[in-house]
This record gives sequence, structure tokens and C-alpha cells, in this order.
Amino acid sequence: MAKIFLLSSLPILSVLFLFLFLFPLSYSQALPINVWPKPTTISWPIPRATPLSPSFQILSAYSQEPHLQSAVARYTRLLFSEHHHPIVAPAVNLSSSPPLRSLTLSISDLSSPLQHGVDESYSLSISSSTGLANLAAITVWGAMRGLETFSQLSWGDPPVIAADVYVADRPIFPHRGVMLDTSRNYYPVEDIMRTIEAMGANKLNVFHWHITDSHSFPLLLPSEPDLAEKGSYGPDMRYTPEDVKAIVEFGMSRGVRVLPEIDAPGHTGSWAGAYPEIVTCANMFWLPNGLSNWAERLASEPGTGQLNPLKPKTYQVVRRVIHDVASLFPEPFYHAGGDEIIPGCWKADPGIQTFLANGGTLSQLLEVFLNSTHPYIASLNRTTVYWEDVLLDPLVKVEPSTIPPETTVLQTWNNGPNNTKLIVSAGYRTIVSSSDFYYLDCGHGDFVGNDSSYDQIGSDRGGDGGSWCGPFKTWQRVYDYDITYGLSEDEAKLVLGGEVALWSEQADPTVLDSRMWPRASAMAETLWSGNRDQRGKKRYAEATDRLNDWRHRMVGRGIRAEPIQPLWCRTHPGMCDVVR
Ligand SMILES: *[C@@H]1O[C@H](CO)[C@@H](O)[C@H](O)[C@H]1NC(C)=O
Ligand SMILES: *[C@@H]1O[C@H](CO)[C@@H](O)[C@H](O)[C@H]1NC(C)=O
Ligand SMILES: *[C@@H]1O[C@H](CO)[C@@H](O)[C@H](O)[C@H]1NC(C)=O
Ligand SMILES: *[C@@H]1O[C@H](CO)[C@@H](O)[C@H](O)[C@H]1NC(C)=O
Ligand SMILES: *[C@@H]1O[C@H](CO)[C@@H](O)[C@H](O)[C@H]1NC(C)=O
Repeated sequence: MAKIFLLSSLPILSVLFLFLFLFPLSYSQALPINVWPKPTTISWPIPRATPLSPSFQILSAYSQEPHLQSAVARYTRLLFSEHHHPIVAPAVNLSSSPPLRSLTLSISDLSSPLQHGVDESYSLSISSSTGLANLAAITVWGAMRGLETFSQLSWGDPPVIAADVYVADRPIFPHRGVMLDTSRNYYPVEDIMRTIEAMGANKLNVFHWHITDSHSFPLLLPSEPDLAEKGSYGPDMRYTPEDVKAIVEFGMSRGVRVLPEIDAPGHTGSWAGAYPEIVTCANMFWLPNGLSNWAERLASEPGTGQLNPLKPKTYQVVRRVIHDVASLFPEPFYHAGGDEIIPGCWKADPGIQTFLANGGTLSQLLEVFLNSTHPYIASLNRTTVYWEDVLLDPLVKVEPSTIPPETTVLQTWNNGPNNTKLIVSAGYRTIVSSSDFYYLDCGHGDFVGNDSSYDQIGSDRGGDGGSWCGPFKTWQRVYDYDITYGLSEDEAKLVLGGEVALWSEQADPTVLDSRMWPRASAMAETLWSGNRDQRGKKRYAEATDRLNDWRHRMVGRGIRAEPIQPLWCRTHPGMCDVVR
């Protein structure tokens, strides 16, 4: 077995780092080849490259760890097959030393599972004089981050790699995610896997899968098969338990957790196919009294239906669903939804009408539902994630005692930093996916039909073209958002991280990559190493060229990320800026 670089040699490496940091390249200056997201620290004192030896190997003494083995095999293949051709040829000379022969992994804690807060740090050194590279990490998942960095430091055919580079890296936020809605429109397994692959390349670590909603229930569950059989778009638009297992495994090999969401009690119209008796207002016209009577709507968009908290049968079904989902997904977080309870939908039910007539309230109905489901989820050793609505909705919400902060995380989507502040000041941990910054679906107009407001010359539906959360969130807007804005130091500690969200009313596999990338990459860097330089100044100017390069590389890797500029901008540095 090849020489293993042990963690005990880390102090030596640190001394080396210190020495090299006395002569680093200026931080505002782009390197000849860049890594996205930008590492916390990267030192490349003399821009030089070295060829990868044709017999180059990644040496890992951890064959017992299958996900790491899979990553090692994948990156070895990538290094020899990518042949990345940068838009601007890196201004480096080849080192006269022999080619790079190996990258040796050393990991000190092989058993840390992939879960919230796991150590993702790593350090990487590539030495041209010895022809050896070393990657040291605490965990398998940190090693995967380092392998990705290593791959991004290489280019060309035959491949060369940046030489005499030292990287020490770790993320700022532990939760860096992408949310995908597979209910409004269906995504085949391969599209989900391609998304997770791209996530790993961007060092994103949580795939939040909004699996079900009112529109379809595509998840085939062993104890409740009827939900998908009668609630999916068809037999070819379902996820089987084998599909889920494959997706979870795929994520593990990329260091990406798969966090399932089964939204309830709202957003459950699709459950009525199997169980009409537990769903209120299912399949009714969403806006019976028109836009001008918005408060009387049955849902906030077409696709009605909410679970009835007063029916004992509701809990038989919901518990079997939760049980099956917890068995299929090893992830310690369980997302239970809880958003957008629309009063009109519950009020359409005669039993609920009686409950309300006898002095009951809508908020009590939600409390009944959460009382019977939250402790059950906790009994399965899961932390429940809810959308912020359960605490902050103006009409239907519960007291914190129903959702104890110890077992609850709240995901915020309304009112930008204001709601983040409300959630953390109430003592909850939070995941930020503000619709003002992180909703990737915004800006594509509305999807409802028979809308006469378009039948007027010059009408643009109020400037947003009918998109409730318009305009489109540009990569710059995503990049520059500070998710702890306005929080005290203690409050900021409760911010676990963020997620960009792709709701799928107007998205499916044909637009998935371009709607997601490279805007998700923008968040990935902000949450990994921040959006500011060493002096605390926003680094959006130099980030533009780097993101251009990274987008180009992602396209080469099969991710159809949309362009952010004409190629001309990259070949004429600075010429496309507003200020030079
Ligand atoms: C590459 O080598 C040439 C010739 O020695 C030298 O002029 C040039 O500055 C070198 N470039 C870099 C980036 O080191
Ligand atoms: C929910 O559970 C709490 C604690 O057991 C109880 O005090 C409360 O009355 C319950 N709420 C409802 C609406 O049943
Ligand atoms: C509960 O989950 C945590 C991870 O969130 C894990 O460390 C612990 O072992 C689990 N406990 C049981 C009893 O399964
Ligand atoms: C946040 O609160 C401030 C101060 O109350 C208010 O001016 C602002 O409009 C709020 N922003 C949002 C997005 O709700
Ligand atoms: C479209 O809306 C108009 C009212 O503006 C209504 O009279 C008409 O029936 C609707 N058309 C369809 C096809 O439902």
C-alpha cells in the first residue's frame, strides 16, 4: 500500500500554510484556474501546472467505505475524461518536475454519518517536486469536498493540474440545499440524479425533495400504495421504493443528504384519489368568488385539498405515510410541510363547520393535527422541519408549545430578513429560502388561464407579468443575500443555512438545469465561503468571471446551466462591468 499521509502530519502542513500565506496571490486577483465555490483559503504562490501522469491514481486505504470508493472511482474517471477547455487559457507554465503520480487520502473519522453538522473540512496540497498530492479530512464527506476541489484544479487534454497549490477549506453554513418540487410536474429519476451530481460539484449538501402536493402524489409507499396508484399522474410518473433507495445512495456517494418532504395538512388534494373521506374541498374550483374575493379562495393556486384534522382516519393514513417515509429515508430531518392552510378549504367541510360553530378555531384544528403528528415524528428520532407558516401565518398558526424548538426547525420563505428574525428570536433553528431572493421559479408569469387582464394593449400585469414573486431572481441577487442580515450573533447561530427552491408549476426536466444553474451555484458559494473578500467587501465583481468559468465547466460536465454573459465578457476582462 502506498504511503498514507497521516493526520499527525497536519501540524507540518499548517506551518507550510503559514509560510505560504506570507506570499499569497492577492485575494482580489483571480487565479489562472479557479474553484467554485471559492475555498476559504487557497494559496498558489507560483502559478505553475504539472501533467497528470497517465498512471495517476487516487490512493485510498478505505475500501470498506463504499460511498467514498464510489467517489474515488468517479473522480479518477473524471480527471482523465473531462478534458476541460477553459474559456481563457490559464496563464501558467508547465513545471519541469515529473508528472503528478498520486493523490493520497487520509481520513481520521471514518464512521461519522452524513447528517446535519457533519465535519466537511479538508486540506489539500499538490506538490510538483515530489509528484505527490495529499488530501486530509476528518470525515469521508470532507474528503469528497476535497476531491471535487482537486478535480476543478485540473484541465486540458492530456490533463494537467495546478502545481504547488495549498487549500484549507471548510463551509460557513452546515445546511446548503436545493429544494425541488416533483408534484406539480414530474421529474424522472435520472433528472433528480443529475441535479444531485451538480449539487455535489457545487459542494451543496441537502437535496430537499418536496415530493408530494395537491397536484400529484408520485411516491409509492409500501403501506399506502393507493396514494400513488390513485394520486400520481400515471404508472410511469411514480417513484418506487427502489428508486428512492437509488437516489439516497446516489446522494451518499456525493455527500448530499436527501431530505424528504410530505406536505400536510395543506397541499394534499392528491390524497383524495385514495381517501376522499379525509380530504376537505378536494377537486373544487379554487377561486369560487373570483380574484376580488381572495379571502374566500379554497387554495392559493389551482389544485385544492387539505387533510381533515377531525377524522381519526386521517391519522391512520398519515402515520403510515410518516412511518414508511422514515424507513425509506435515513435522513434525521423529516420535512412535514405545514404551509398555507387556506381557511375556505376547511370551512367547506360540514364537520368542520360544526366544530367552528361550537367555538372552535382554525388554529385549534392545526394544533389538533400537529399534536397527533409531531410527537410521532419525534418518536422516530426525527427532527421535524416545517415551513414558517405554522408559527407565523396571520390566520392559522400554533403556539410554540405545540412545536418545541428542540425537535423543530422552521424554514422561512416570506418577508425576507424580517421573518428570519421572528423565527430565531422565538428560539427556533431556521433554514432560509426567502422567496424574495432564493425562489428560482419567480419571474415566469402566472399559469392560470382565461385571464382577461392580458387582453389589453400594454398590459403587463403590474410589471411582474403576473408572477406573484416576480421579478426573476438573478444570480447577483442570490449571491448578495446575507441570510443572517439584521440578527444578533446569538440569533445568527440558529440559522442552519439556506436553500434555493424550484417550485414546478412551470418547470419540468426540459428547463430544470437552466432554471437551477448557475443560480444555485451563486448561493452555494455564499453559504460555503461567503460573498465577501478578506477585507469584508462584497466580491461580486471578481465572482462574475469565476461564475462564468464555472458555468462553462458545468456545461462541459453535462449540466445545461444558462449563460450569464456573452462569451466576449470573459475574453475582455472588466469590459462588461459598470465600473472599472
Ligand atoms: C512562463 O515562462 C516564460 C518563459 O520563461 C516567462 O516569460 C513567463 O513569465 C512565464 N509565465 C508565468 C505565468 O510564469
Ligand atoms: C395539544 O396538546 C397539548 C399538550 O398535550 C394540550 O394541552 C392541548 O390541549 C392540545 N390541543 C388541542 C387543540 O387538542
Ligand atoms: C437518533 O438520531 C441521531 C442522529 O440524529 C443518532 O445519532 C442517534 O443514534 C439516533 N438514536 C436512535 C435511538 O436511533
Ligand atoms: C420588514 O420590516 C421593516 C420594518 O418594519 C419594513 O419596513 C419592511 O417593509 C419589512 N420587509 C418585508 C419584506 O416585509
Ligand atoms: C372565461 O371567463 C369569462 C368571464 O370573463 C367567462 O364568461 C367564460 O365562460 C370563461 N371561459 C371559459 C372557457 O371558461
